[in-house]
Amino acid sequence: MIQIPKGTQDILPSEIYKWHYIEEKLRNISTAFNYTEIRTPMFEDTDLFVRGVGGSTDIVNKEMYTFTDKGDRSITLKPEGTAPVVRSYIENKMQHDLEQPVKVYYITPMFRYERKQKGRYRQFVQYGVEAIGVENPLVDVEVISVAMHFYQSIGLKDIKLYINSIGDLGSRKEYNEALVNHFKPSIHEFCADCQSRIDTNPMRILDCKVDREHELVQSAPNIYEFLNDDSKAYFEKVKKGLKQLNIPYEIDYNLVRGLDYYTHTAFEIMSEARGFGAITTLCGGGRYNGLLEMLDGPSETGIGFGLSIERALLALEAEGVEIPQPEGLDLYICTLDDAARDKAAELLFELRKQNFAVDTDYKERKLKAQMKDADRRGAMYTIVIGENEIESNQVEIKNQATREVNTVQLDELANYLLEAK
Ligand code: HAM
Repeated sequence: MIQIPKGTQDILPSEIYKWHYIEEKLRNISTAFNYTEIRTPMFEDTDLFVRGVGGSTDIVNKEMYTFTDKGDRSITLKPEGTAPVVRSYIENKMQHDLEQPVKVYYITPMFRYERKQKGRYRQFVQYGVEAIGVENPLVDVEVISVAMHFYQSIGLKDIKLYINSIGDLGSRKEYNEALVNHFKPSIHEFCADCQSRIDTNPMRILDCKVDREHELVQSAPNIYEFLNDDSKAYFEKVKKGLKQLNIPYEIDYNLVRGLDYYTHTAFEIMSEARGFGAITTLCGGGRYNGLLEMLDGPSETGIGFGLSIERALLALEAEGVEIPQPEGLDLYICTLDDAARDKAAELLFELRKQNFAVDTDYKERKLKAQMKDADRRGAMYTIVIGENEIESNQVEIKNQATREVNTVQLDELANYLLEAK
């Protein structure tokens, strides 16, 4: 038997309402914060991620779904959304748009060849926002507030925002040198990845999943000491802005994020719920001031974040927050014979065209079984059609919850349902 690929999941009809609920929240919040949806292709030129995300990252080194297409091009299924959005911004010359920053969001599947674990999938759905074109700490605060507001609005309580500044490119350079001096003498104690990171991107050692607890990681130089005055001032303004919005945060000087393009603000939102599992990062993002130029674009800057719907759902589950169940059918039509089934087909189509959620029994079951089916489908009302009903052109409509019964003309059914809603 062919089975679903490892690290992917079917979202079954019985579960889909949870996704719709989250997606609707995200779309409404995006609209309120004035972010507009952007849809970029599911795959891109591999080079976009190699250059954009960075050659020293796990994403590029280990996790990309890369293949050669029939035209001999190297193609990669998108593992993240920032590089594609930035590519689109550059390609469509959005720096000339009158509205700046350009504020976009996406909800789209992403693909990473990762070790399967609770909360870690090879295909997951990421919601992300990007605000490109204005460098202003208030934009950073706004972006962070989108994510925090989302989690609060779905009812999560045990979440924590961690922030850091990794400074501008100048501060980063000095900091990287200090890290090399700190780690180099004992680098042999670290994993193979870290041994190469010391040459390619020493900051990533702080973010290593394997060596996280190593004492040298804990005692590593503090990035704050290496921030120049401008970077420090920028960070202070972000912190002030968060305080003003009453968004609590904690500073984590080791938070450097797993992608190469970050400068200044970096942040992650974690679930602190018991039983959430080992992977507790719900959301991650930050500012990327050099990325556009790295991709041959204008010298504009941006900030954004990504969060997966899968982990938001896991957090809800861990906190025991229920997602509201969708409403059932407005009406279920029970039928007694072939003529009634024909009549029902006609009625169903009429009512459905008027947006009523209605259904019937196609298995030609006994009336009692049809009634059971109506309840299973959460029908608010039922009617039974037989010879008499067709002849008199009227039916008894029953409220399934209260058991109240009324007589109604068949051509008045829609009005009756409308009033009852
Ligand atoms: P990221 O930290 O790689 O950042 O991913 C962001 C979020 O995507 C994570 O916090 C997590 O919720 C989710 N995620 C990542 N990998 C998986 C996975 N294998 N299974 C389930 N969920 C996952 C980025 O992708 C950046 N593009 C974020 C960003 C946008 N930075 C600036 N703009």
